[in-house]
Amino acid sequence: MLYFRTGSTWIYLVLLFFPNINAIRIIGQDVTATAGDDAELFCQVVETAETLTSIRWQRRTKEKPTNTDILIITSGGKQEYINGLRDRVKFAANFAGLNGSILLSSVTVLDEGIYTCIFSVFPSGPYETEVRLTVQVPPVVSVSADPPAVAGDSDVVLATCTAADAKPAAEVSWSLDVLNNSVKVQNTVTVDSEGRYTVKSSLIVNASVDLNQKKVQCEVTHPGLKEKLELSYTLNVHYPPQVVYINSAGDQGETREFQCEADANPKPTNFTWSRYFPDTLSRGVNSRLIIQLNPDSNGLYYCVASNQYGKSVGSLYMHVKQSSESKTCWTLYIITVIAGVCCFLIWKFNLFQQFIKRLQCNSGDPVSTESLD
Ligand SMILES: *[C@@H]1O[C@H](CO)[C@@H](O)[C@H](O)[C@H]1NC(C)=O
Ligand SMILES: *[C@@H]1O[C@H](CO)[C@@H](O)[C@H](O)[C@H]1NC(C)=O
Ligand SMILES: *[C@@H]1O[C@H](CO)[C@@H](O)[C@H](O)[C@H]1NC(C)=O
Ligand SMILES: *[C@@H]1O[C@H](CO)[C@@H](O)[C@H](O)[C@H]1NC(C)=O
Repeated sequence: MLYFRTGSTWIYLVLLFFPNINAIRIIGQDVTATAGDDAELFCQVVETAETLTSIRWQRRTKEKPTNTDILIITSGGKQEYINGLRDRVKFAANFAGLNGSILLSSVTVLDEGIYTCIFSVFPSGPYETEVRLTVQVPPVVSVSADPPAVAGDSDVVLATCTAADAKPAAEVSWSLDVLNNSVKVQNTVTVDSEGRYTVKSSLIVNASVDLNQKKVQCEVTHPGLKEKLELSYTLNVHYPPQVVYINSAGDQGETREFQCEADANPKPTNFTWSRYFPDTLSRGVNSRLIIQLNPDSNGLYYCVASNQYGKSVGSLYMHVKQSSESKTCWTLYIITVIAGVCCFLIWKFNLFQQFIKRLQCNSGDPVSTESLD
C-alpha cells in the first residue's frame, strides 16, 4: 500500500501495461421468460485466478421487495436451498469453470424481479451483479357475441375478441375481408393489480340480415405466443322470419304432410296453420300439417311462422285430383260440356239452320233424284 502512495504516475504506468490485473468482472444477463417455461439466470466470473469460495443467489420481487437468499453453492459442491424454491431452482453450471448460472423452472409472474448473484472470491472479496427476470404471460383469447346483435339495431356490438390477462398487453386486430367498410372497431384495454392486461376489440355495426353467417377472423399477437393466433368466427345476427315456404313432406296413404319452413334466426318456434283466413287448423310448435287427400281439402293454406322477433306468412294452393272411381262421372261431365259449347257455336253462326235446310233438301235418295233429271 505504501508502495502505491509513493507516486501516482507510477501506478498509471502499471495499469497501462497490465490492464487486467485483478480486474475481476461478473457478467450477468437480463432474461425474459414465458410463464410456465424455465428461465436460465446467467451469471459468470471472468478474469480471475483467485479461488472461488461460494456463489450466492438472492432475489427481490414485488411480493418480497428486500433481497432474500434463494441458493448458496460452496466450493465443496454443497448446495443450500432457501425460501422454498428448492424444487424449482437448480444449479446446472460449472463451479470450477466460474459459471454460476441457475435454472428456475415453471416461472410465474410472482418470480418476476431482480436476481443478484454474489461470487465470493478469496482473498479479494465478494463481487456481485444483478439480473432482471421478466415474465411474460400469453393472453387467453376468445371471441363472443353476447347478447347477439338483432337486425335493425344501430351501432351494436357484433362480436368481441378478448385477449385476457396478458403481460405485456396483446395486440388484437380483425381480418374482415368484404365487411371492413361497414364495420367500426372499438378497443379497450384494462390492467389488473398483477400488471396483466386485457384487450377487448369489438366490431360495431348497424346490424343487418346480410351480415349473418359472414366469417371474420380475430388476430392476436403477443411476444409470449410462438405464432400469431387466428380465431375464425361466424357472425350471428338475429332476425324475424323473412320468407316462409310450405313444402310437401311426402304422402302417407290417404294423407299428405306439409312442412312450414322460414328463413329466420333463430329458427321459428311457433307455427299457426290456417285455411282461408282465419280458419285456424293448428297452432303451436308443430311446423308440420297433415291433410286428407280428397277434394274437400282443396284450397289455399297459410302458415304463419314466428320467432321472438316477429312473424311472416307463407301460402300454398292445394288441389286434389279426383280419385279413379269418379273418372266415368268426370268423362260424362266433360262430354256434356263440350257438346254444350259446340251447340252454342253452331247456333251462333247459323250453321244449325243451314244444316236443317240441307237435311230437308236432300231428303230422299240422292241417286234417284239424279236419274229424274
Ligand atoms: C454456464 O452454464 C450454463 C448452464 O449449464 C450454460 O448454459 C452456459 O452456456 C454456461 N456459460 C458458459 C460461458 O459456459
Ligand atoms: C377493406 O379490406 C380490403 C382487403 O383487406 C382492403 O384492400 C381495403 O383497403 C379495405 N377497405 C377499407 C375501407 O379499409
Ligand atoms: C349506423 O348508422 C348511423 C346513421 O345512419 C351512422 O351515423 C353510423 O355511423 C352507422 N354506424 C356504423 C357502424 O356504420
Ligand atoms: C306462439 O306465439 C304466440 C304469440 O305470437 C304466443 O302467445 C304463444 O304462446 C306461442 N305459442 C307457443 C307454443 O310458443
